[in-house]
Amino acid sequence: MSEEKKDGQVEQLKKDFQVIKDFLPRVLDFVKEHKRKLIILGAVLVALGALFTYKMIHYTSEPEFCNLFCHEMTPEVESWENSFHSQRGVDCKECHYGEGIMGVVKAKYYAQFQLLHHITGSYSNNPL
Ligand code: HEC
Repeated sequence: MSEEKKDGQVEQLKKDFQVIKDFLPRVLDFVKEHKRKLIILGAVLVALGALFTYKMIHYTSEPEFCNLFCHEMTPEVESWENSFHSQRGVDCKECHYGEGIMGVVKAKYYAQFQLLHHITGSYSNNPL
């Protein structure tokens, strides 16, 4: 690389750095000015995130979800649909999840691997 070219690149870098340096205080000013609004926005986003997570945990635990997306489970879902358990409102998670919040966390943790098997088509019908 020629000296001139190098100098040009260094100049460009300095310019880019200056742009960031000029921009940063403006960001900080903006944050200072709108502190309260930003805190409220953050709180709303956290609440929405929590609500979404909560809804998704429920939705992905429903028998309909098990059947809709995980066709590997269709025989189990059909057998459950024709059982006393479905008539009495005992669904999959009541037998397949452990107790309490840790049962849900564990089930969702293992569900990641089931999802991976589903996507890669490596799901076997052998008992777990
Ligand atoms: C009343 C309790 C109960 C309910 C409700 C229930 N299961 Fe099961 N399930 C079991 C038991 C016990 C086994 C293991 C016995 C067996 O393999 O026959 C099993 C086995 C399975 C298996 C096979 C796992 C393996 O290791 O071979 C799958 C998949 C499954 N259930 C999915 C579901 C789905 C999906 C639902 C809801 C639509 C559901 N189950 C509802 C008790 C239940």
